[in-house]
Amino acid sequence: MTRAVVGIIGGSGVYHLPGLQDLREERVTTPWGDPSDALHFGRIGETQVVFLPRHGRGHVFSPSGINYRANIFALKQAGVTDLVSVSACGSFKSELYPGLFVLPDQFVDRTFGRQSSFFGNGCVAHVSMAHPVAPLLAKRIAAAAKTEGMEHSVGGTYVCMEGPQFSSYAESLTYKAAGYDVIGMTAMPEAKLAREAELSYATIAMVTDFDCWHPEHDNVDVASVIAVVRDNADKASRLLARLLADFPHEHEPCPIGSDRALDTAILTAPEA
Ligand code: ADE
Repeated sequence: MTRAVVGIIGGSGVYHLPGLQDLREERVTTPWGDPSDALHFGRIGETQVVFLPRHGRGHVFSPSGINYRANIFALKQAGVTDLVSVSACGSFKSELYPGLFVLPDQFVDRTFGRQSSFFGNGCVAHVSMAHPVAPLLAKRIAAAAKTEGMEHSVGGTYVCMEGPQFSSYAESLTYKAAGYDVIGMTAMPEAKLAREAELSYATIAMVTDFDCWHPEHDNVDVASVIAVVRDNADKASRLLARLLADFPHEHEPCPIGSDRALDTAILTAPEA
């Protein structure tokens, strides 16, 4: 059994976690540099929680400028076992409307300017990303949404673009035609690094817009994203509070091996 410590990475508009008891902030550093902000340690009920705002206080880090390796390393170092990331996203499906929570189970990585591995020359490792989301964690999030009576959609493909500019119309149509469900700028390389760090990972993607493909909706801009995030901030907090309050103190190992991903991944001989 694993003693659970839940990490929460807050996205745009989610810069703190309301209801965190015994709150303690700690600035940490890592061999990969500084994370986006101080770690916020606390608990909700009996569940130990570590919160980190992805973009930093005052939203100072752009998606391409976030030190994802430092963020994941800091959370791992803090004892996190299960990591929930919250992010705003655009939607490619009419039925995935603004304000809805989507729990993607697949990612497509279209980023190109980010450090996306803890490994490289000296220690070569190839973890599996076939199933990037830890199913038990995703199930717990869906159960929390259900308990709170919040509409949500389980599964789907999140395409992660580099940004910071939003997509062109042609790109938007291409992603839609490919069958992707939502688009954002931050789940990658977060999910890859979480797997390398043997953390169970799941994303709560809050739909804020229809990107720029929908003939009956305005093209996405920052104002529309922020307006939807603001309108739904309480809902996101309630979802996280429910998830954390109901989180088991101990749980079984991840059925797809997220928590032991390196067992079969390292190629470099120990003496090399
Ligand atoms: N975040 C929120 N909406 C987005 C969109 N349409 N594209 C990329 N990232 C987003």
